[in-house]
Order: sequence, then C-alpha cells, then structure tokens
Amino acid sequence: MKNLYLLIVLQLIACCIYAQKTSIKNIDFKVDSVLKLMTLDEKIGQLNQLCIDFSSGPLITDQKSLEKIVVNGQAGSFFYAADMDLKIKLQKIAMNKSRMKIPLMFALDVIHGYKIVAPIPLAQSCSWDLAAIEKSERVSAEMSAAHGLHWTFTPMMDVTRDPRWGRVMEGSGEDSWLGAKIAVARVNGLQGNDLSKNNTVLACAKHLAGYGGAESGREYNSVEMSERQLREFYLPPFKAAVEAGVGSIMTSFNTISAVPSVSNKHLVKDILKTEWNYKGFVVSDMEAIGELLNHGIAEDTMDAAATAMNNQAADMDMSSVVYHKSLKKLVQQGKVKESYIDDACKRILRIKFALGLFQNPMGYFDKNRRDASLKNPEYQAATMDMAKKSLVLLKNEGNILPLSKKTKTIALIGPFADGKLNRDYMSTWTYHAEQKDVITLLTGIKSKLDPNSQILVASVCGFMGDCKTNEIENAVKLAKMSDVVILAIGENGDVNGECKSRTNLDLPGNQKELVKAIMALGKPTVAVLFNGRPLTLEWESKNIPAILEAWQPGTQAGNAVAEVLFGDYNPSGKLTMSFPINVGQIPVYYNQLPTGRTKTKPTDNMKSTFMDIPNEPIYPFGFGLSYTTFDYSDITLSNQEITATDTLTISVKITNTGKVAGEEIVQLYIRDLVADISRPVKELRGFEKILLNTNESKIVKFKISLEDLKYWNADLVYKADKGKFKVMIGPNSADTKEKIFSLK
Ligand code: NOJ
Repeated sequence: MKNLYLLIVLQLIACCIYAQKTSIKNIDFKVDSVLKLMTLDEKIGQLNQLCIDFSSGPLITDQKSLEKIVVNGQAGSFFYAADMDLKIKLQKIAMNKSRMKIPLMFALDVIHGYKIVAPIPLAQSCSWDLAAIEKSERVSAEMSAAHGLHWTFTPMMDVTRDPRWGRVMEGSGEDSWLGAKIAVARVNGLQGNDLSKNNTVLACAKHLAGYGGAESGREYNSVEMSERQLREFYLPPFKAAVEAGVGSIMTSFNTISAVPSVSNKHLVKDILKTEWNYKGFVVSDMEAIGELLNHGIAEDTMDAAATAMNNQAADMDMSSVVYHKSLKKLVQQGKVKESYIDDACKRILRIKFALGLFQNPMGYFDKNRRDASLKNPEYQAATMDMAKKSLVLLKNEGNILPLSKKTKTIALIGPFADGKLNRDYMSTWTYHAEQKDVITLLTGIKSKLDPNSQILVASVCGFMGDCKTNEIENAVKLAKMSDVVILAIGENGDVNGECKSRTNLDLPGNQKELVKAIMALGKPTVAVLFNGRPLTLEWESKNIPAILEAWQPGTQAGNAVAEVLFGDYNPSGKLTMSFPINVGQIPVYYNQLPTGRTKTKPTDNMKSTFMDIPNEPIYPFGFGLSYTTFDYSDITLSNQEITATDTLTISVKITNTGKVAGEEIVQLYIRDLVADISRPVKELRGFEKILLNTNESKIVKFKISLEDLKYWNADLVYKADKGKFKVMIGPNSADTKEKIFSLK
C-alpha cells in the first residue's frame, strides 16, 4: 500500500516535470480545434513570415498594406520587429479584425543581448560556464520579451573548424560535445522552464545543418560531407536542443552533398521530425526557399514552394513569399498535399499556444516593464560576470600581468583604446544597442588606476585597422613616455559575422606595423585583442610578452578587461577554438584523426606534416592561462575494466600552486584506441570549473559510461567498441596525462 502511494506520488512529480518540459506537446487538441476552422488561405498565411520593415518585396509597401495582410490573415509572424507601438497595433488588428483571431508572433535576431549586450557567443563559450551562459540568455530573453518580442533567432549551434568563416563569432567553437552542452544552456535560458510566461522567448536552433562546414570558409558556400560526419560532428547540438525542448529550428543556406537544407527531406523530415520526434516548427533562413532557383533545383517560385513543402523541410517561409504566392495553386493542382500544409500550420500553432499567445496575445507589450528592464542592475551584473568569464589570457611572460594600479604612466594605444565606432566592442547583431552605452577600455582602466597615475591615449588606426604613418609616430612618442604599453588591437565587429568571410586572418589593416613599432621600444607591453574569430598571430605570439583575448565583450567591455588587467579578476577562460599559425593550416582542430603517418619524433620522415610550419596551432583548444598555476596529480580510475552497464569514475587531484586564488577548467578527453573506424586522437567528454585558494587541493571526479564511448560507425550504427580506451586529463587539449581502461 505504502509502495503504491509512493509510486503515485512519484508519477505525479514526474508528470509535472514532464508537463513543464513538454508543454509544447500537450496542446495538440487545442491546435486541432483551431486548424479545423481555418481555410486553406489562412493556413498558408501562418506559414508566411514577413519583414516588418517593408523589405519583403511587393507584398508590403507601406503601413496600409501591412495592416491589410494582418486583417486577411496572410502572415503569421513578422521579424525585425522592434517597434513596440507597431507590434501593439498589428496584434490588435489580428485579434479584432482578422477572421480567425490568431495572434501574431514577433521575432528578431537577439544574439547576445538586446540593449545591454553580453559578449559574443564565441566569447561566452570560452567561459565553459554553463550556468553563466544560461543566465546571460535569461537576461537577454527577459529584455527581449519586455520589448515585445516572442521569438529570437538564436542560438546558433553550428560547429566549425574554419575561422575564415565570419560567423564563428556566433557559435560555440570547434567542439560538438561542448557545443551541445552550451546549446542546451542557451535554450533553457531563453525558453525558461515555462514558455507560456511572458518573460520567456522562443529559441531558434540554427542553422540545420553543416553551415559551419562551408567550403573555404566562404559564406553560404556548399558543404560536402558524409552522413557519418554530419551525425557525429554537426548534429549533436541540434539533437541536444531538441531534447531540451527547443520550439523552433532554422535551416541553413548551404547545400549538403548538393541538397539545400531548405528542401532536404532526409535532414529535416526524416532525421529531425521523424527520428528525433521534433514537435516544433522549422523556419527557412531568410529568402532561402526562393533561393532554390539559384541553387538550380527549382524552375520557378511555384517549383521552389513545391520542393520545400513536399520535402516537409520548411514549415515557415522567411520572407521569400514563395509559399504565399504558390501554395494554394499547388494544392489546387494536386502538386502539394494539403495535409503537409496542415502539418506545418499545426506545428506553428502549437508554438503559439505554448508561448501563451492565444491566452494573452497582448502579454508581451507592457511599456512599464520595457522601461524598467533598461535599468535593471541585475542585468548589468550578469553581463559583467559573463564578460569577465569570457576573457582568455593567452600569454603572460614574466608575469607582466596583472599590472599595478599605481603604474605611473600607461600608454593606451590602438583602435580599441577608447573605441567610439559602432561595434568596436560588439558584433553586427546589436541593432538596438548603442555605442554610447558601452564602457570603453579607457573608461574601464581609468576606473581602476590610481588618481596620481597618468594615461596617454592614442586612439589610432580606424575601422579597418589602417594606421597612418603619423598616427604610428605619435603612438611611439606616447609609448616612449610610459612605463607600460597596452595595445588595444583587433577587428571591429563589422569585420566578422554574417557574410564577413576573410582569407587573411592577420590583424586587419596595418596594425602589425603599429605593433612592431611599439615592440621595438622594448617597453613592458600587453596586447588586448578585440576580435570575433581566431586570428593568425604568429609574430605577435612570439614578440608581445602578454596577450589577453577579449573578443567582443559587449556593454561591459572596458570594466571587464580592466578587472583582469589590474588583477581584480583572475582570468579563467579557455579557448573553444584553436588559433592557427597561418591560413594555410586551416582547418586545425584538436579532435583530428591520427592518420597512418603521424610524426612522433623529430627525425621522422615521410609523415603527415607541412614543410614550413608545425601541425599544431599556436593556441590549442582548451587553452587559457591564469595568474596562478595548477598542478594535476593522482589520476586514478575506479576500475581498469568496465562493462556496458558500469560507470567508470576518474579522479584527479588539482592543487593551486601559485600565489593567488584562481579558477581552473579541468578537462577530460577520451580516445578509442582500436575501433571499427579510425577515431579522433582526443574527444572532450567532461570538464569541471573549480575555484581553488592558494595551496588548496581538490579532487575532481568524472564519470564515464557507455554513452560517452559511442560513435557513428561506417554503417551509421551508433555504438561503442569493446577494447581499450585512453582517458586523458589536463588543463587543455595539448597538455594531458593519461590512463588506460577497457570496455568488456
Ligand atoms: C540570415 C541569417 O543567416 C539568420 O541567422 C538570421 O536569423 C536571418 N538572416 C534573419 O535575420
């Protein structure tokens, strides 16, 4: 009897937890009842997403035509939807004047914060701090929701190994396993645990799939890859996001093996919707259905609409207006089944219900809440926390950092010294943030420095890093007068992001000339890098004694960097993307295959090497320094052998051997030593971030089970091999200690 009671209670709890996570799934009866009442035109309307700013072609030319579309139920959602008054107006029209009274959904790309801007996603990933990332997205979601947005086109979870591709700034780096963990944190932060609350927003996992594999890193370029690689490398973050309940997914612009994602039945219908049982909807990327003509697989817009819909690869057409123009005719001609349109419409309505829009269509439009959100100190605090944790110390020769706050004279030199240009410390995705609200490096440094100290500022080199001769001369003059030089160099946010592929990853312009002129002075010099992708820093890494990777830190840029420069915060970030020596080395990444000819000693010949540079990157995946040092010892395994049902516990003792407290990101990698197919030399399977006081030690424990050992083999079977595995633990992917165990 007691057991029965317990069982019922447990089931009730499980049910509640399940209900929260799956609120999206539990509303189908309501969706069906709405769908039954809709005409074909109205259903197609829900599938049509338009730019609110009249940029979707002839359909909307002015405010009147926009309103007419809403009255007629010809669009279910609008993007680039920032103007609160316009949103209120349109929602009222939808609710009062359209026949079906289906609420509109408003969307915008809020990629790393709204008015208060967090570091770019690549930077955030370097924190390896899932709670901080989730919090950062929560802040972003609350601000977005308070500004009348229901939906943001984020997170981007495209794994990539190519820093030539400008969009690396928007992802979580080169590792798929870590990418999946971060994807979940982001989805949870945005959607919260109850999407129907008006402080949550619908997340959009993008871009399904393989976008990060664009040939030569050229934006929108084709991708050729095996299904094995797709499943092993590119899909895990998407699968994790689906399991976390993401409500929308955006397909990618690229082709995979010559099939554009927006019409890829195998990818979207078979894998995503069927195999993974995804219940949300799929939106095309902007204009992508129409671009099927450019891909050369659709003859005209009718053909494009039929191809995307018949493959059930796009439920919503983002702004190509192809569905709007063609679907009705296609159904009438028997070329598209109405049941496909029903399914797409149902998916979209399901999310509108889950967002609580039917219950409270005006729930996101509270201007008081909007205004209060701008002043919320908690948001600035979370943004600052994220910014500090994203910084990565790459070099600190002779412990030149941290600097003394009493340093007499500091020369602050470079385009990002007191960055006043738009996007000097932010990315292109910050339409609604203002540069004037960003704390510049100069302001941050001033706030730390002793009042009797002096800062000499040379804000030189401009947007593309073009340093004029007289600017360099002036900078040298100031540097000569100083005790320490801080070089604030890198890429403006307009030099990375969408459609910002580069073939030269050196510091843009002639910043290197500036750097060389300063380094010739022999002054203690620190470089602070502001950039959105790994750069090629061969000369800089050899010649500048201290380098701090600051990425594009957002609103709190100057404050966060100054905390690290002056030792108020001990840097703890670690790279999630390798820094190549030069562009010819790309792709360079830690989890490569061993090859049949790996060089193991200097005298080795005829091995898989380059003639001119080493195989290794300058800074590897997982790398980052601290102001203290950590010792790794006593690696022990709970067993030498495990079975398929066992869990292996791996312990390691970490000791802070330096002079200050610090955080360390302890990393665990595995290697399947003998498998059906060649397996990577290392694969991340665990990490833990710990804080240690001086002389303090902690035992960190990792658990490995069968799931962690599985991979997709050549026959696309997801399985683990019996036999030996290596487990490696260390502070980064290139510096690990190892042990062996077997799977029986
Ligand atoms: C194109 C981008 O690829 C996508 O990520 C973005 O969400 C849309 N434009 C809308 O801005």
